[in-house]
Amino acid sequence: MKATNQTGIRLAGRMDEVGFSDIVQIRNKVMAMRAEGHQVYSLHGGEPFFETPDDIKFAAVRALVENQTHYAPSSGLQPLREALVRKLAAKNGIHVTADEVIATVGGSQGLYAAFQIVLDPGDDALVFSPYWTPIGDLVTGAQGRPLLVPTITARRNGIRNTLEQFATPKTRAIYYNTPQNPSGLVFTRAEAIEVASFAIERDLIVIADEAYEDLVYEGDHVSIASLPGMADRTITCFTFSKTYAMTGWRAGYAVAREPFMTALRKMVLYSTNGVTTPVQFAMIQALKTPESKIAALREEYRVRRDLLVKGLNEVGLVCDPPAGAFYAFPNVEKIHKNSRTAAQILLEKAHIATIPGSVFGAQGEGHLRFGYAVPPKEIEDCVASLRKFLG
Ligand SMILES: Cc1ncc(COP(=O)(O)O)c(C=O)c1O
Repeated sequence: MKATNQTGIRLAGRMDEVGFSDIVQIRNKVMAMRAEGHQVYSLHGGEPFFETPDDIKFAAVRALVENQTHYAPSSGLQPLREALVRKLAAKNGIHVTADEVIATVGGSQGLYAAFQIVLDPGDDALVFSPYWTPIGDLVTGAQGRPLLVPTITARRNGIRNTLEQFATPKTRAIYYNTPQNPSGLVFTRAEAIEVASFAIERDLIVIADEAYEDLVYEGDHVSIASLPGMADRTITCFTFSKTYAMTGWRAGYAVAREPFMTALRKMVLYSTNGVTTPVQFAMIQALKTPESKIAALREEYRVRRDLLVKGLNEVGLVCDPPAGAFYAFPNVEKIHKNSRTAAQILLEKAHIATIPGSVFGAQGEGHLRFGYAVPPKEIEDCVASLRKFLG
């Protein structure tokens, strides 16, 4: 009944609980304010501050000119998968063959496919919360139920105990995102080991999301699939969006063993039949980026992070420096207890666009997400505006 619209046309029932991102509505409001001639400080986004490097763009252009415009293997070109195998071994400690990686249309397709192949209707998935909003919809779209695990409580009371407390007999999977969007939290190696041992003991599948693997400022990035016993029960999803500023290219990949990989291949084959061929050539080029360049970009993000976090704390929006990703997630109850109202007030009164924490799950309430992947000047102006408004 629910899945009908004004025309009376009925949709598949599994769409009932699948939502549409609130973030789009905020983006629209920002555009409307700009159109009215207002200056808006755009800290609501999740895009790197720099453009896709030229060598990556030229690789795609070259591929087009050389007529690399035909079907590629739907799992990805062999040289791409081989380059990914080398990267995974060197950087993530994940040792796989070229048959155990698949190119995906952004990290999103890998995550979509992972939940589709793992969850049966009625299954539960543990999701550390606050969490990247689409995950809730990917779980419900697979007719599963997200079980939100408060990350801060888990850190305080022990990850294992907390997972135990929230798991049900129907729990099949754990979504494990580090560094996290929206909090910037980075799970430690010890915490990864706790999650892994819980997964092994309960025979759960881990869907790991390492979109921000290159943006860790404190501590180390640990790929959970690299831990003993985990390669066989983990599907790890990566993206080129953040590290290489390739959000619009829709380039990503997933790593898994059988039986997952054959199922992932089917999902990719029957949805997009692979990643656009010239984009795969750009991906090969991106993987040639020296680590020193990635490290230099990370330092640029760190400068932005420190600038923003200092400013937030100065105006009483309490915020520890996030260990990773490019978001700060301060408590904003000083503005309003309800984060949607707080975001609206900040946008209207201080012309600062942010994302209400409640969008990322109940555990995000009382917070706002500030994305700091913007020019330092924009952060300075935002802080000055905050000072005028709150100071
Ligand atoms: C936590 C997280 N995972 C995955 C993605 C997927 O990114 P894409 O589909 O652009 O590769 C994003 C993008 O914002 C993200 O924040």
